[in-house]
Amino acid sequence: MKVACLTGGGDCPALNAVIRGLVRTVANNGGETIGLLEGWRGAIEGNFVALNPMETDEILPLGGTILGSSRTNPYKDESLVQKVVDTFHALKLDALVAIGGDDTLGVASKLYSDYNLPTIGCPKTIDNDLSSTDFTFGFDTCLNTVMDAVDKLRTTAESHRRVIVVEVMGRHAGWITCFSGIACSADAILVPEQAADLDAICDLLKRRREQGKKYGIVMVSEGAQLKGQDLVTKDAEIDDFGHVKLGGIGTRVAKIIQDKTGIETRDVTLGHLQRGGSPSAYDRVLGTRLGIHAARLAIKKDFGKMVALRGLHIVSVPLAEAVGTMRTLYPEFMDEAGEFLK
Ligand code: F6P
Repeated sequence: MKVACLTGGGDCPALNAVIRGLVRTVANNGGETIGLLEGWRGAIEGNFVALNPMETDEILPLGGTILGSSRTNPYKDESLVQKVVDTFHALKLDALVAIGGDDTLGVASKLYSDYNLPTIGCPKTIDNDLSSTDFTFGFDTCLNTVMDAVDKLRTTAESHRRVIVVEVMGRHAGWITCFSGIACSADAILVPEQAADLDAICDLLKRRREQGKKYGIVMVSEGAQLKGQDLVTKDAEIDDFGHVKLGGIGTRVAKIIQDKTGIETRDVTLGHLQRGGSPSAYDRVLGTRLGIHAARLAIKKDFGKMVALRGLHIVSVPLAEAVGTMRTLYPEFMDEAGEFLK
């Protein structure tokens, strides 16, 4: 059996753990694995590397992806889709494992339904916003990165009696913001799912100051909604999948807070720092397990599926069901966080 894998979309910690788990399990069953380079671009252009268990054994602690990644969308142009199909046949592949988020997996799902290409999906994103799986690998490492950063920001915020607004990733879902807000005892958490009332947040920050807390930490998602205001975007540029670049809301929120409260306020955007670094133990284990189970689906010829975490178990779900629906933050998390935001 010859299996190809690729990593698409924004990178994240533990992609290499998935690759290692996949390569080892395929080899244990007498098969071989190749890696298509830079996401779907490698599938279009036929660029690949051979992957073997000895070499991939070393990649577990490495952040990023040894295969490279891109946001290439073959469905932008039907001739590119045909090239993917041609590559599949030219390389005499038996299965293609796509490791990615909603966009990358959406392509894998369409290739399965449109061309009967034997694809398998593995869910990835630091944003934790994929439906059909409880957690995505990379999310835990990202939270720890944000927590380390905010622990450092807290001491300088306190020394200078400032508010610091911390902008984190999360286009449509506030998982990173809410979880890191809880982990860092933030004074306010602004997410895409609920339009934030900045007047109420300013009142709270002033009240806390009167009560003796001389600094404040405000966590804000890049895609957060502010009551009565438009989404803050970086520029008009859109990627292959039609997404605009977000960024800049932290600066806007900091200015409003300073203007309304008179408290000196700064903002920090953590940006791509959140996607980097060596994966946490949790993400290494989750990534490894997903890689093993993706290989097992390939060996069983159980295609058109995505591996997923449900509770403590790795299961498989139809790719078509797993893509297309964004999983936003469950309200119960904001409700629980809310006990500390009053
Ligand atoms: O991977 C998802 C994500 O982290 C989003 O939260 C963020 O908006 C986007 O990636 C940024 O991607 P890029 O690397 O293209 O700037």
